[in-house]
Amino acid sequence: MTDHEPTTHATVARIGIVTVSDRASRGEYEDRGGPAIHEYLGEVLSSPWEAVARVIPDEPAVVEQALIELCDQERCCLVITTGGTGPSKRDITPEATEAVCEKMMPGFGELMRKVSLEKVATAILSRQTAGIRGGALIVNLPGQPKAICECLDAVFPAIPYCIDLIEGPFLTTNEDRLVAFRPKKKPGQ
Ligand code: MTE
Repeated sequence: MTDHEPTTHATVARIGIVTVSDRASRGEYEDRGGPAIHEYLGEVLSSPWEAVARVIPDEPAVVEQALIELCDQERCCLVITTGGTGPSKRDITPEATEAVCEKMMPGFGELMRKVSLEKVATAILSRQTAGIRGGALIVNLPGQPKAICECLDAVFPAIPYCIDLIEGPFLTTNEDRLVAFRPKKKPGQ
């Protein structure tokens, strides 16, 4: 339990949305992943937030630099990436995430794969992970727009409490859409 209380409600949470795709970054096709994440957050979050969006190629140094900037300079408490989690040569998002994180949070990838495998057999091909850099949680999602909702529905309940624990803003959700998990306070706390 943290001493973090809902007094920080007025804080506008900054959330990084990173589309990792060679083709989307070259404008060869429209980025559908970033807008899908934006729409998801708009539906689920009831506390104030703003997006900091990037569309970048599958280059390790570029992905690492974008994640570092979003966490350190842009002060995002949450950075969600989409794309580049598969086995292809250019898929390096999990490696870039691990390279910039102090701490990995393997439960996120485990749960997303478990839930996704119930829907598509190809979920085994996603190496998606999550980790902590400073005051930010970074979560990888696969590139398919339909995977975004499937994966976020699985792990988003844990995200507000995870952000409490890294001393970020107090995120709340529209409970008719998604109930966030927070342990109950014990008497006297
Ligand atoms: N997970 C869910 N929930 N839904 C999906 O449609 N697609 C899979 C997988 N995970 C998928 C999914 C596919 S086809 C691939 S190749 C891997 O994620 C990696 O995708 P990426 O390289 O676009 O990140």
